[in-house]
Amino acid sequence: MTSLAKPVVDSQTTITELMIPSYANFGGKIHGGILLSLMDKVAYACASKHAGTYCVTVSVDKVEFLQPVEVGELVAMHASVNYVGRTSLIVGIRVEAQNVKTAAIKHTNSSYFTMVAKGDDDKPTQVPELILQNKEQVKRFIECLRMKEIKQAVKEKMDDARSHIEVKNADTILKEERCIIQYQEVSKA
Ligand SMILES: CC(C)(COP(=O)(O)OP(=O)(O)OC[C@H]1O[C@@H](n2cnc3c(N)ncnc32)[C@H](O)[C@@H]1OP(=O)(O)O)[C@@H](O)C(=O)NCCC(=O)NCCS
Repeated sequence: MTSLAKPVVDSQTTITELMIPSYANFGGKIHGGILLSLMDKVAYACASKHAGTYCVTVSVDKVEFLQPVEVGELVAMHASVNYVGRTSLIVGIRVEAQNVKTAAIKHTNSSYFTMVAKGDDDKPTQVPELILQNKEQVKRFIECLRMKEIKQAVKEKMDDARSHIEVKNADTILKEERCIIQYQEVSKA
């Protein structure tokens, strides 16, 4: 363990924001993009507190809006560094929306933001080790390790699948799908 190591609790961050009418979509619910933007902010705050540097977002996993968020609700985003690599960090974010009148809280989603710490030269820079102080934190770190392995395996499978797609067999492959192939003539202007 280096002297730079920091416990998870040191960078845990919560942002709470009131959902105002200008955040709503045409259906009267909160835009997914508003929530994503807040999630990116809290991920940045949490990651940069741990790293002690500027951080950038590299990838976002498991964004599912399973329950709508309403205008007037208080949304709290709880962020925690779940994993650190050499220069990257995975920040877990739990999003909860509270109805201020009833005090009822609903868990709307949990997502994972991979951030990379950047040095003054704009290059990835090493982050402090993470001190895990309870079994839940150990479990989350191991989960992230497994998630990275699974993502890598899916990426390799997808790269392989992409390189074997035969558009000339599209009629057969898409027979049961809800699409119509209507190729257009390309004009040679
Ligand atoms: C993220 C970025 C720094 C990676 O640069 P790179 O030259 O590939 O750097 P490296 O190969 O050294 O990778 C750095 C770290 O990023 C991780 N990483 C790179 N691509 C990744 C991906 N697609 N998903 C998850 N992690 C990734 C690497 O695993 C490595 O982590 P580690 O040091 O903990 O092992 C670079 O792609 C970048 O600056 N992207 C733009 C990010 C940005 O501006 N985001 C804001 C939104 S536009």
